[in-house]
Amino acid sequence: MRASVQTRLQAELAQFRRDGVYKRLNYLESPQAPRVKMEGRGDIIILSSNNYLGLSTVAEVVAAGKAGLDRFGAGTASVRFICGTFTVHRELEAALARFVGTESSLTYVSCWNANEGLCPTLLGPEDIAISDELNHASIIDSIRLAKTISKCQSAVYRHADMKDLEEKLQAAKGARTRLIFTDGIFSMEGDIARLPDILELAERYDAVVAMDDSHASGVLGKTGRGTAEHYGVLGKVDIITSTLGKALGGAAGGFTGSSTALTDYLTQRSRPQLFSNALPCTVAASALAAVRHLEQHPELVTRLHQNARYFREQLLARGFKPLAGQTPIIPVILGETAKAIQMSEMLLAEGVFVTGFGYPVVPQGHARVRCQISAAHTRDDLDQVLRAFEKVGQKLSLI
Ligand SMILES: Cc1ncc(COP(=O)(O)O)c(C=O)c1O
Repeated sequence: MRASVQTRLQAELAQFRRDGVYKRLNYLESPQAPRVKMEGRGDIIILSSNNYLGLSTVAEVVAAGKAGLDRFGAGTASVRFICGTFTVHRELEAALARFVGTESSLTYVSCWNANEGLCPTLLGPEDIAISDELNHASIIDSIRLAKTISKCQSAVYRHADMKDLEEKLQAAKGARTRLIFTDGIFSMEGDIARLPDILELAERYDAVVAMDDSHASGVLGKTGRGTAEHYGVLGKVDIITSTLGKALGGAAGGFTGSSTALTDYLTQRSRPQLFSNALPCTVAASALAAVRHLEQHPELVTRLHQNARYFREQLLARGFKPLAGQTPIIPVILGETAKAIQMSEMLLAEGVFVTGFGYPVVPQGHARVRCQISAAHTRDDLDQVLRAFEKVGQKLSLI
């Protein structure tokens, strides 16, 4: 590396450290589970994992991954349209479409790629993407890319503000396609999109609705089928993107669920699909087992909901003021990034791993620790975490 670049990077990294925003990587020495071994310390309770249902360590999910590895080998060694499509992709895509209530689905190596593949492929200069201001970075970048590559138009509405969304739709009446893009659960706030209102506006203004359900798949609704099930509108969302890297086994991968015409079109045209290898079969096989396991065990979703409710109520009872909500994402706002990181480090000293998030992941002044609850947490796990929160909260004069 050239010395000039090296020096610049080192100076910026030193500044991150001085500002208290430097992110240290923590190495796990055991599987992703409610309690892990991390950097030589055992028995750390994880409160920051997306493993919402604990499926990443379920025996049949792990066994399916191993069987996929044995049957299909280590990799796909090709993009889908050349020779990288395996039977397990077809089975997984059918299961995912059934699960989220769409006609068809298409997998990608990540939901980042699924999102990034969508807008630039679907939208052209005559079209507009209308996006919630708190949408995930992958949606924002998908729209940025679409503006650059395919010259589409874009508008951003204030978070969950239906009046603002309607104004943006009105202003876009002349467009060929109006695409409303929203998260299902907003990952940093933990709140749920106002999907019925969005669908109603989409109907009125002849718009297409795309929803990224990454934090809601396996999480919302009685059987975990996501935001649409939560609101009783399964099958009504035009496009659902989601990840296989969170509740659905936690490995990796993402997908787009929609009509067969759209997924076929994405197969033909979306660039991450055309120019990047297919999802590894071992990952596809474990994700398929995770979906099947979830379909057979809806009680996991009930337990997740109970755990999240219990933790939220107990935080409030101890004087914390988490953001209001009903999902397993429970953020406690601290303001400055350095404070969030300090709280996170103090909690780790107490045996609880919960990440502090600051700018640029969340807006300046809204740094937070973000708690994520899993169905796999026991009451003992949660009570131990609550005792640690109380101790640290008192030391930091938060309660
Ligand atoms: C809302 C949302 N969309 C997309 C992604 C990206 O998912 P993946 O890890 O599959 O790329 C994430 C991951 O953090 C997310 O929270």
